[in-house]
Amino acid sequence: MKELKIEINYKFAQPEELSKEDQELVQMAKDATRNSYANYSKFCVGAAIRLSDGSTMIGANQENAAFPSGLCAERTAIFAAQAQHPELAVTTLAIAAKNENGFIEEPISPCGACRQVILEIEDRYKAPVKILLYGTDGVYVLNSVKDLLPFCFVDANMH
Ligand code: THU
Repeated sequence: MKELKIEINYKFAQPEELSKEDQELVQMAKDATRNSYANYSKFCVGAAIRLSDGSTMIGANQENAAFPSGLCAERTAIFAAQAQHPELAVTTLAIAAKNENGFIEEPISPCGACRQVILEIEDRYKAPVKILLYGTDGVYVLNSVKDLLPFCFVDANMH
C-alpha cells in the first residue's frame, strides 16, 4: 500500500496587498453581512462575486425557522447571478462573516455544500473561481475551489 499526499495552494495576504478589484470585492462581502438574516445562528455571512464582464453581485445568508430551508451567503450570490446572467462565469468570490463580537479573526471557509456549488461553476464555465476568504487576521486567497475540495466530484466522473 502506498502512502500519498495531496498539496493545496493558498496565499495569506493583508487586504492592502490585494488588487484594487479584489479589495473592493472583500469590502462588498463585509458590507453584505448587513443583509444577512441570521435570526437563529446570529452568524452573519456576506458574499460578493465578480462576473466575467466585471460586474459584481452580493449575497448574504438567509435563515429560516425550518432550518434546512435557509441558504448560505455564497449560494444566494451565485444562484442569483446564474438566474440573471447565465452567460457570465463567476471569476472571483469573496466571503466575510461576523458573530456577536464582530468580524471573525480567522478567515471563514465555505461549507461543503457551497464548495460543491462553486465547483459546478468552475466545471460549467471551464474557468477557475478565485476565492478570497476574509478574517481580521488577513485574507486567504485560493486560485480555485479545487484547493478546498481536492477529491472532487464533477459531471465527467459519471461518464
Ligand atoms: N454560512 C454561510 O452563509 N456560509 C458559509 O460558508 C458557512 C455558513 C451560514 C449558514 C448559517 O446561516 C450560518 O452561517 C451558521 O451556519
